[in-house]
Amino acid sequence: MTLIEWSEKLAVGVGEMDSQHKKLIDMINKVHELIEQGKGEEAREFFINEITRYLEEHLKAEEEFMKSINYPEFERHKQAHDNFRKVMSEFIPKIKEGDCKEFRSAVALSWSWLYSHILKFDKRYGEFYNKRNASS
Ligand SMILES: [Fe+2]
Ligand SMILES: [Fe+2]
Repeated sequence: MTLIEWSEKLAVGVGEMDSQHKKLIDMINKVHELIEQGKGEEAREFFINEITRYLEEHLKAEEEFMKSINYPEFERHKQAHDNFRKVMSEFIPKIKEGDCKEFRSAVALSWSWLYSHILKFDKRYGEFYNKRNASS
């Protein structure tokens, strides 16, 4: 399994959000590493206790940020977050039951969702925010 890296391509141009994204990517990499080292139990606990918690913190922080700048696409963006929240919450009980296949799917999905969501959604509030700042 290859590790993933944050790159400029993923920059949204809002410092706090970029550092949260970096932290999330580091956390997902840590889960990959634990799995590779055969520490499945530890990986599972880290995923359920740390990643899902930090992910929720991040989604909330973004929603607060978007509201604070009166972002016009807030509803659509929030909907994308809510869809992901739902998918993740359905994974959790299966992971807790010890289903390895479901766990691996959840880890893979977290990464691919984060990656495409940053490119498709998060970058847009960054553009809006930076344009607004430039014109004021
Ligand atoms: Fe987002
Ligand atoms: Fe984000």
